Amino acid sequence: MFRHAAFALLFAFGCVIHLSRGAEVNVTDKDGKLCLYANVMLNFSVSYETSENKTMLAYFDLPSDVMFNGSKCDNTTSILKLNFGAGHSWSMNFTLNGSTYQADSITFSYNLNDSTIFPNSSLTDTLSVNVRPHITDVSTDTSYSCKSKETFQSDSVIQTLWNVLIQAFISNGTQSKNLTSCSADLPSTPTASPTTVAPVTNTTTASTPAPTTPAPTLPTPTTGKFTIKPDVNSTACLLANFALRIGVQHGEKYQEINLDPNVTTVSGSCGVNTSELVLVSNGMTIALTFTNDTKKFHLQAVNVTANLSSGLVVSEANNSLSLWEASVGSSYMCNKEQNFTITSLLNLFTFNLQVQPFAVNKGVFSTAHECSLDDTSILIPIIVGAALAGLILIVVIAYVIGRRKTYVGYQTL
Ligand SMILES: *[C@@H]1O[C@H](CO)[C@@H](O)[C@H](O)[C@H]1NC(C)=O
Ligand SMILES: *[C@@H]1O[C@H](CO)[C@@H](O)[C@H](O)[C@H]1NC(C)=O
Ligand SMILES: *[C@@H]1O[C@H](CO)[C@@H](O)[C@H](O)[C@H]1NC(C)=O
Ligand SMILES: *[C@@H]1O[C@H](CO)[C@@H](O)[C@H](O)[C@H]1NC(C)=O
Ligand SMILES: *[C@@H]1O[C@H](CO)[C@@H](O)[C@H](O)[C@H]1NC(C)=O
Ligand SMILES: *[C@@H]1O[C@H](CO)[C@@H](O)[C@H](O)[C@H]1NC(C)=O
Ligand SMILES: *[C@@H]1O[C@H](CO)[C@@H](O)[C@H](O)[C@H]1NC(C)=O
Ligand SMILES: *[C@@H]1O[C@H](CO)[C@@H](O)[C@H](O)[C@H]1NC(C)=O
Ligand SMILES: *[C@@H]1O[C@H](CO)[C@@H](O)[C@H](O)[C@H]1NC(C)=O
Ligand SMILES: *[C@@H]1O[C@H](CO)[C@@H](O)[C@H](O)[C@H]1NC(C)=O
Repeated sequence: MFRHAAFALLFAFGCVIHLSRGAEVNVTDKDGKLCLYANVMLNFSVSYETSENKTMLAYFDLPSDVMFNGSKCDNTTSILKLNFGAGHSWSMNFTLNGSTYQADSITFSYNLNDSTIFPNSSLTDTLSVNVRPHITDVSTDTSYSCKSKETFQSDSVIQTLWNVLIQAFISNGTQSKNLTSCSADLPSTPTASPTTVAPVTNTTTASTPAPTTPAPTLPTPTTGKFTIKPDVNSTACLLANFALRIGVQHGEKYQEINLDPNVTTVSGSCGVNTSELVLVSNGMTIALTFTNDTKKFHLQAVNVTANLSSGLVVSEANNSLSLWEASVGSSYMCNKEQNFTITSLLNLFTFNLQVQPFAVNKGVFSTAHECSLDDTSILIPIIVGAALAGLILIVVIAYVIGRRKTYVGYQTL
C-alpha cells in the first residue's frame, strides 16, 4: 500500500529523461501541471581527509539519472532538489519577486560514507556546503539559460555548472521558449543586465557537452637535492631531496608546473623550533616551514608564489599543515607520488621525497620514517604470514574434525 503510494507520488512528479549527460527534471505541482523545469550539467571536486590523515581530491559528475523528491513549487518560492548516488544531493532555492525571479542559494550535500567516491574517508558524515549563485533578474515566463561554465568555490568543494536551462516558475504548465541568458553567454558588448532574447527553435539541443581541453601531461619532475648550511664551513643542518610539482587552480583553469632543480636557488634557515627551506625557480617561489614540537617535526607551512602561463601571479599559503611527520633525529621519506591539498586552489605533488629539517648529523640523513604509502611493502610479508598461520590452523582443525568423524563412523557401523 505504502509502496504503491510512493510509486504514484514519484510518477506524479514526472520522470527523468537522459539527455547527453545533463540531468533533466520536470517537476509538477499537485495538479500534475509542469511547474519547474531544469536541465543542468554539473561536476564536483571535493577534498576530504583519509584515515591516514592525508587529503584526497574526489572528482565526480552529476549523473543524468537523478531523483528529485524534495523539489517543489509554490507561488513565490520553488526548490529544485536533485538526489543522486549514495546519499548525495544538490539543491537550488528560487524566489519570485514581481516580474523577475532569482536563485538564492545552492546547497550541496555529500555523503562521505560513499566509499566509491570517497575511498578511505576518515569521516562518514554527510557534509553540506552553501554557495550563492549569480542567477538574478530572470524575467518570469522565461527560462534561465547559461551554456558558459560557472564555478563556485567553498572551503573543500569546487562546483562547476554549465549548460544550464532552468525555468523555476511556470505558470501555464508549459515551459517557455523565451530565454534569459546569463551575461557570460552574451556577446562581449557591455550590457549591464541580462536581456531577454528572441524565441529559440529547439532548446533541447542546448545540451551538447562543453568541449573540455585536457591539460597537457607533464613529465615526472626531476629530483633535486637541497641543503641548508648554517655557514660555509659547516655540514648541512637541513636536508631535502624531492621532485616537486604544483597544481594551481585559477578560475576555471588548472595549471601544473614542475620544479626544475637545475635552475633553482636554495635558501633558508635552521632553527631550534622552526626551519625553513626556500626554493626560487623560474617564476616560482616555494617556502616550506618545518616545526619542531619537542619529539617530532612536521611540515607546518607552505607558501607558493607562481607566475602562470596566462601571465597571472598567484600566491597561496597555508600555515596550519601537519604533513611529513617524523621524530626529531630521523628523516621523513616517501618515494611514491603523493598529492597534498594545500589550499582549495593549490596542490603539491611530491616524488622521491626525503627530508630532515632538524638534528642532521654529519650532513647525512638519519634513519627514515616512511610514509604509509611505502609501508605497504612491509605490510605484505605480515599479511602473507598471517594468511599462512590461518591456513595451518584450518588444516589442524580439519584434521581434528576428520578424526572425530571417522571415530563416530566406526561406532555407528
Ligand atoms: C568540470 O567540468 C568542466 C567543464 O567541462 C571542466 O572544465 C572541469 O575540469 C571539470 N572539473 C572536474 C573537477 O572534473
Ligand atoms: C591522525 O591525526 C590524529 C590527530 O591529528 C591522530 O590522533 C591520529 O593518530 C592520526 N592517525 C594516523 C593514522 O596518523
Ligand atoms: C516571448 O517574448 C515575446 C516578445 O517579448 C512575447 O511576445 C511572447 O509572448 C513571449 N512568449 C512567451 C511564451 O512568454
Ligand atoms: C533541432 O532543430 C534542428 C533543425 O533546426 C533539427 O535538425 C533537430 O532535429 C532538432 N532537435 C530536436 C531535439 O528537436
Ligand atoms: C671557513 O674556513 C676558512 C678556512 O678554514 C676560514 O678562513 C673562514 O673564516 C671560515 N669561515 C667561516 C664563516 O667560519
Ligand atoms: C639538469 O642538468 C643536468 C646536467 O647539468 C642535465 O643532464 C639534465 O637534463 C638537466 N635537467 C633538466 C630538467 O633540465
Ligand atoms: C626541538 O625542540 C626541543 C624543545 O623545544 C628542543 O629541546 C630540541 O633541542 C629541539 N631540537 C632541535 C634539533 O633543535
Ligand atoms: C622554542 O620553543 C620553546 C617552547 O615553546 C621555547 O621555550 C624556546 O624559547 C623556543 N626557542 C626559540 C629559539 O625560539
Ligand atoms: C607568502 O610569500 C609571499 C612572498 O614570497 C609573501 O608576500 C606572503 O605574505 C607570504 N604569505 C604568507 C601567508 O606567509
Ligand atoms: C590525488 O591523488 C589521488 C589518489 O592517488 C588521485 O585520485 C587524484 O586524481 C590526485 N589528484 C590530482 C589533482 O591529480
